[in-house]
Amino acid sequence: MTKTMLPFLVACVFAAFAAAIALAFAGAASPAAAAHIGFAAGIMPLIFGAMMHFVPVLTRGRPPQARVQVIPPAMLGAGLVAAAAFLLPGFFQIGIRIAVLAGLTFALAMAVWMVRCARAALGAPHPCLRWYLAAVGCLILALLAVLAMEFLPDHRPALRLFHLHLNTLGFIGLTALGTLTVLLPTAAGQPDPDAAGRLRRDLPLAVAGVLLTAAGAAWWPPLAYAGLVLLFLPVALLGTAWVVRFPRAMLRVHGAAPSLALALAGLLALLFLSALHAQRRLAGGDAVFGFLLAFLLPLVSGAASQLLPLWLKPGAQTDWHRAARETLGRFAVLRGLTFVAAGWLVAAGWPPGAWLALAGLAAFVAQALRIAARR
Ligand code: HEM
Repeated sequence: MTKTMLPFLVACVFAAFAAAIALAFAGAASPAAAAHIGFAAGIMPLIFGAMMHFVPVLTRGRPPQARVQVIPPAMLGAGLVAAAAFLLPGFFQIGIRIAVLAGLTFALAMAVWMVRCARAALGAPHPCLRWYLAAVGCLILALLAVLAMEFLPDHRPALRLFHLHLNTLGFIGLTALGTLTVLLPTAAGQPDPDAAGRLRRDLPLAVAGVLLTAAGAAWWPPLAYAGLVLLFLPVALLGTAWVVRFPRAMLRVHGAAPSLALALAGLLALLFLSALHAQRRLAGGDAVFGFLLAFLLPLVSGAASQLLPLWLKPGAQTDWHRAARETLGRFAVLRGLTFVAAGWLVAAGWPPGAWLALAGLAAFVAQALRIAARR
């Protein structure tokens, strides 16, 4: 993969998150436009880029060929068109059609490439690969739901809910849980011998949880509660395993580990809160924004603290990499706490809480610019 692609996609995510938060505050973007700036143009392409980095590691295979490497930038294109469609009402219908067709094509291409890598693997691929396949499967289903909106206009509100839950909990959630299980032990500098077994065991629970939650939110709410319980289990089991195995690393003030642990805590609390929004005690839009702040920001900043040095300078690990990780991880716990607190406040119905996240975001961007300048 070209050296600049992953750092570029990380920069795009932070620019997209900052733009989404600022535009939503200024009233210049609808909640749907803000969601697609942050999620479709920001996080979706980065997820594809990160998967492309991890899949050869999980399958002990070769790096992707040049034609496979176009997938993450192509997803960025699809996401930007989707965001533009929500920002420009005259472009909505055609923009959504283009974005859906492009998104579906490249998501399918990604799934095919992952299956090929799994087949060519020396020995059994790491079970995290199945989480990635399930995540891409959720994105494909979510995009098919958008396509179905054209043909079933009466079902549009239900299909919208199906689409948004499959994307947030399924596409982003499953990718994140698979990656966190592998990444936290690396960040803590200590192996987790149970990780592969847990990933293998918990995937059916997580996938069933996502599908029941999405279908329940769309068509029959009692089903969503059953889905929530199923989804809660793997998240809580992962958290419990970490508390037992990595208590010191998670409680450090600096480094990637506390940020990743906070992301999981953020997700766990949001799952609790989501039961309240399912009962209409909290607004659903606030829950989506809370998800971005309390889960995605600590997750992406924690993962980037660990991975960005490697992505900026691939190859042998040097003193520069160690120093860069130190800079990115400095006071990570404070940064992570601002994100989680902001997300909880917003999800609980107090939007100005998002300013806290902008402060944390500014701190991380300053740290990232410092290491990029020292390169
Ligand atoms: C090519 C990519 C995408 C397209 C074309 C697309 C399209 C759409 C459409 C047409 C709607 C319904 C809007 C309405 O109510 O009329 C929608 C809603 C939504 N989508 Fe997407 N989407 C895409 C990707 C994503 C991704 C990756 C995520 C999250 C990870 C996401 C999250 C949402 C959310 C949260 C809503 C509800 C927004 C609201 O009404 O407040 N979408 N999307």
